[in-house]
Amino acid sequence: MKEEIYSKNTAKSVAPANLENYEKAASSFTWKQARSYVDWFNGGKINAAYNAVDRHTQTWRKNKVALYWEDEAGNDKKFTFEELSLLSNKVANILKDFGVERGDRVFLFLPRIPELYFSFLGILKIGAIAGTLFSAFQEQALADRLENSGAKVLITTKELKPRVDAIRKKLPDLVHVLVVDDEYFTKSLERASDTLRIAHMDPDDYAFMLYTSGTTGKPKGVVHSHRAILQEHMTAYWVLDLRDDDTYWCTADPGWVTGIAYEILGSWSNGVAAIVYAGRFNPDRWYKLLDKYNVTVWYTAPTAIRMLMAPGNELVKKHNLSHLRHLCSVGEPLNPEAIKWGIKVFGLAFHDTWWQTETGAICIANYPCMDIKIGSMGKPIPGLTAAIVDDEGHVVGTNQEGNIALKPKWPSLMRTIWRRPIKYKSYFMNGWYITGDRGMVDKDGYFWFIGRADDVIKTSGERVGPFEVESALVEHPSVVEAGVIGKPDPMRGEIIKAFVVLEASQKSKVKSQKFADALKEELAMYVKKHLAGHAYPREIEFIDKLPKTRSGKIMRRILKAKEMGLPVGDTSTLEEF
Ligand code: PRX
Repeated sequence: MKEEIYSKNTAKSVAPANLENYEKAASSFTWKQARSYVDWFNGGKINAAYNAVDRHTQTWRKNKVALYWEDEAGNDKKFTFEELSLLSNKVANILKDFGVERGDRVFLFLPRIPELYFSFLGILKIGAIAGTLFSAFQEQALADRLENSGAKVLITTKELKPRVDAIRKKLPDLVHVLVVDDEYFTKSLERASDTLRIAHMDPDDYAFMLYTSGTTGKPKGVVHSHRAILQEHMTAYWVLDLRDDDTYWCTADPGWVTGIAYEILGSWSNGVAAIVYAGRFNPDRWYKLLDKYNVTVWYTAPTAIRMLMAPGNELVKKHNLSHLRHLCSVGEPLNPEAIKWGIKVFGLAFHDTWWQTETGAICIANYPCMDIKIGSMGKPIPGLTAAIVDDEGHVVGTNQEGNIALKPKWPSLMRTIWRRPIKYKSYFMNGWYITGDRGMVDKDGYFWFIGRADDVIKTSGERVGPFEVESALVEHPSVVEAGVIGKPDPMRGEIIKAFVVLEASQKSKVKSQKFADALKEELAMYVKKHLAGHAYPREIEFIDKLPKTRSGKIMRRILKAKEMGLPVGDTSTLEEF
């Protein structure tokens, strides 16, 4: 392995990092010590939302700006910690009036508008369980999630509501749909009381849930507890290195776990001022935001970094980004070119962080106080043991490939898979939590990512299950069967590629290139319209037959190997191909 090191001493000198000595903390830290970083109610009770926002209103941070918000049109707003506290109290009181109780599921189907943030907090404050739905979701994706969660209330906008209306019949548990930009809600918000007795929760009580994809079956509801705030707080402190004088920008959407853990809970719990941009990606606009708000700490994703690299370095130079002091990345492999580009144009290395929806917070990371081995994900956070294990759950030697595994429990480990306890159990083997990622660890304890152990696709950093895309495709009348894979892509990490078996009458028609192209376009749009804007196949290939096992399971591994011109490997269980 050729190692390239980015020395910690190359970084801009600021006050010592929050985590000054990784090795010392890794050998001595216990989660008991983290207890003093968050606030508790009597009797060992806690509330994650209280820790994120309300506790600061008891301090000098009361009038500190917590949220700088801006949309694509350039409208902007700002909210202090006190304002977020009062607004979330109001939403909490509205929900109480609608009969929402502890443990009820309240889902948010919202773009990144301020209501998303204070509603999320309001839900947690009354002990209900918040669920977030990415605003690109279409009917099928919404129906799967709302049906399984049994959501009682949904909060959305006028623009998104028709998608919910279309599936409402399938949702007997959904009693109320609140529309934040209609008159009823705006009036209710005005009138609602802003005082609230915040629910004192047991640390293991559920706080929020997020649907995520595996290889097979419908998306699963990963449930997190209030206790997770301990790890969200500590990792935002150690890894993102957040301080009171920072302006912090996490570019994730709260429809995904990063947006919850590091745009709402862990970051605000550290009292940092955060910016939220509710607009589409655009390199020039992103630089303008970094410049305008004097962003100091920036947490983004490799696809975004690669898309910033694409237009060349002239664009960056037009902006004053000298206040940036710490850069982090998450969600997909951070390629060395991206790190080197960061060093060149910002004078700073992106620090890779590794975690999953299920782990609830950062688990493996590069720290400001530690040299980066470029291409490595870094080392496990203090208080967590990670290892590489074989398929029986036995630890393997250094530089050996195996499954990335974590030793349970850690505070932000998911508490269950909603209504699927057996699925939850299947994550654990021989005393380890098996992540589904393959990797290795070197002699210095640095972890290296190799790939997924299953067929889960990562496209532009977003996790997509092939089964969901296949199911959407076969709903189309021209499609008999479909097999879906992630195809490596230099910009997006992977793109979704679908192999489609057409219905007999269509097969001869696609001999015409024009017809074939039109049908491919139609199928891609069909998935976009029914499942989600981000989960459609960018490439489609018509194929006569899918490779399957004798029991009828599609062998995506073989489709992928063929696509990449690699040997197809063991085909002994294959039906015929
Ligand atoms: O395969 C790993 C990849 O993203 C998966 C988790 O996706 P999700 O649950 O959507 O959470 C993403 C944000 C926390 C992992 O199993 N992944 C995440 N971070 C990295 C990564 N792959 C390589 N390097 C990373 N730093």
